[in-house]
Amino acid sequence: MMHAKKRILAAIALAVVSAVSLSGCGGTAKKDAAKPAADAGKKMVLRYAENQPKDYPTTKAAREFAEIVKKKTNGRITVEVYDSAQLGDEKSVIEQIQFGSIDMARVSLSPLSEFAKQLNVLQLPYLYRDGAHMWKVLDGQIGQDLLKTLDKSGIIGLTWFDAGARNFYTKAPAKSMADLKDMKIRVQESSMMMDLVKAVGANPTPMAYGEVYSALQTGVIDGAENNWPSYESTRHFEVAKNYMLDEHNRVPEPMIISKKTMDKISPADQKIIREAALEAGKIERKLWAEREKASEKKVRDGGSTITKLTAAQHDEFVKAVKPLYDKYGADVKDIIKKIQDVK
Ligand code: GCU
Repeated sequence: MMHAKKRILAAIALAVVSAVSLSGCGGTAKKDAAKPAADAGKKMVLRYAENQPKDYPTTKAAREFAEIVKKKTNGRITVEVYDSAQLGDEKSVIEQIQFGSIDMARVSLSPLSEFAKQLNVLQLPYLYRDGAHMWKVLDGQIGQDLLKTLDKSGIIGLTWFDAGARNFYTKAPAKSMADLKDMKIRVQESSMMMDLVKAVGANPTPMAYGEVYSALQTGVIDGAENNWPSYESTRHFEVAKNYMLDEHNRVPEPMIISKKTMDKISPADQKIIREAALEAGKIERKLWAEREKASEKKVRDGGSTITKLTAAQHDEFVKAVKPLYDKYGADVKDIIKKIQDVK
């Protein structure tokens, strides 16, 4: 009898000790546990959605982000990264972020722009001279101001991840814009991407990323478009072996957090999250540059036909997509000019 009582008491003591350590004070120093630190916020678990696989640059950077946050909040905030679209496709993830049922995500700017139309300006075709130009824009005031346009949709943009330039790829050979004529090309769920594909003479078919492989395989679509790492990691290069380096646009990828979630976080922990996101952004850019090269090699070794465009063929694309500047740029002419003027 006595023995059982002792065991129960011991169990209670243990529970108290673990509760103290779970409260985020580490449970090491008694005085810390007694006096809440100025920055102590609530203990939270944040669910982070990522539609790329585990070994992809954006996913790796998300895990680094989670590590930084865990360390800097002394374990108060745990970020659980769900990769490979476990939490759903991007459109539904963004909706759930608005609703607060998913806390965080890294998404492509294309579907996100449907929720804050001004963001479209940043993915206009042939807007940037190159990657370096894009980063000057995103890291500067323009990038910051445009991220803020998400606020009114209940979404907070934290940082930008790189996603290189996108190119068309097709099952049948296509070596110039004329070859894309009437082909069914999968696009992201984005009105601007639909218009871009129409402008080059093809037929856009919007579809979630995860469905593209089988759509290519079964012939529902003739092709799609994406950057080197996505073309490679999805193994689309095995079913659509013609990759045309037209580099029609650069679509950066913001890391976002639900405003509903952010509002529940203490100001000090919000600061930690914002800083950790910026750090993760830097990490991702490095990982991206490495992966781009590795993916290109894998695709080339895999036997895809890679077509470089001549200057004249490239200009055909530039000319064809010009009308998008009227449709998506009319209200933001000043921003476009500012972007173009960034040296
Ligand atoms: C890229 C991007 C994804 C996006 C995909 C797409 O791979 O990283 O987030 O879903 O493009 O084309 O849908």
